Amino acid sequence: MGSASKFFPLILILTTFLFTSLSLSIPFILLHGIADECSSAKSKFFTEFLSNSSGSTGYCIEVGNGQWDSWFIPLEEQSRIVCDKVKQMKELSGGYNIVGLSQGNLIARGLVEFCDDAPPVKNYVSLAGPHAGTASVPLCGSGVFCIIADGLIKSDVYTDYVQDHLAPSGYLKLPMEIPKYLEKCKFLPKLNNELPDQKNSSYKHRLSSLQKLVLIMFEDEEVVIPKETSWFGYYPDGAFNPVIPPQQTKLYTEDWIGLKTLDDTGKVEYVAVRGGHLNISTQDMQKHVVPYLV
Ligand SMILES: *[C@@H]1O[C@H](CO)[C@@H](O)[C@H](O)[C@H]1NC(C)=O
Ligand SMILES: *[C@@H]1O[C@H](CO)[C@@H](O)[C@H](O)[C@H]1NC(C)=O
Ligand SMILES: *[C@@H]1O[C@H](CO)[C@@H](O)[C@H](O)[C@H]1NC(C)=O
Repeated sequence: MGSASKFFPLILILTTFLFTSLSLSIPFILLHGIADECSSAKSKFFTEFLSNSSGSTGYCIEVGNGQWDSWFIPLEEQSRIVCDKVKQMKELSGGYNIVGLSQGNLIARGLVEFCDDAPPVKNYVSLAGPHAGTASVPLCGSGVFCIIADGLIKSDVYTDYVQDHLAPSGYLKLPMEIPKYLEKCKFLPKLNNELPDQKNSSYKHRLSSLQKLVLIMFEDEEVVIPKETSWFGYYPDGAFNPVIPPQQTKLYTEDWIGLKTLDDTGKVEYVAVRGGHLNISTQDMQKHVVPYLV
């Protein structure tokens, strides 16, 4: 008894040290949205703020040259590029968490589902992800990218040419053109295991291996349409209403990608925050993002 209590402070210090170093050891990566890049004020803010608040190191992973490539490299290739980068980063080899912003969430899921022999993804926090598609082109101003992109989309989004040259065409899901979408859209139908004869159980297995999936939707969302797509809700085929809640979609009930499996074990958080697209308050970040990075 006497000798055990002598060692008690030492054990305490060792345990504290162990826990501190363990909790500091899970880094996260940030995947930015379309028309953005790692050097932008926005990406830097998210990465720094979340690193500062969680005490975990954050890395913004870039695809090619940033803004331009976020528009014009097809998403499957963007996920492949990120997959290669992640596998080369020693810092991530013990596993990591993901924070996805907007379109970056589709790269994130491509990374989780398609990337072979990669380190494990633990928690994945999605902000404004168009997970079930979007029924409108991302809003943008009069920049040169937007003009080119708009021109391509108006020409017909479900053609091989547009699919191969414009990232958002990979998740543009027009409710009135579902048969064409399923036949020609090259990214989202695959990512969501939507095609009856081409389902790949690896995607489901991998997504359902997450420890936590946090789906953040913005109440005043104006970019990804409908806003419920951030929770995997969407329009019915052939109509613009009513929006089907996530748990009533076939993706969920038939568990195409493991969302139901995760949900059944309490591993999905559906979060709604105030604000427009990605305009999350620091209080809401502290509450809904930071805890999953600690
Ligand atoms: C993060 O912490 C550093 C160092 O304290 C500080 O300079 C920086 O402004 C912080 N960034 C954010 C976004 O909080
Ligand atoms: C399913 O996906 C995995 C992971 O990308 C891949 O290794 C495998 O070949 C795919 N299987 C089929 C039948 O396409
Ligand atoms: C973001 O939200 C804040 C607080 O609600 C608001 O004041 C600001 O105008 C919003 N910014 C944008 C770009 O919508």
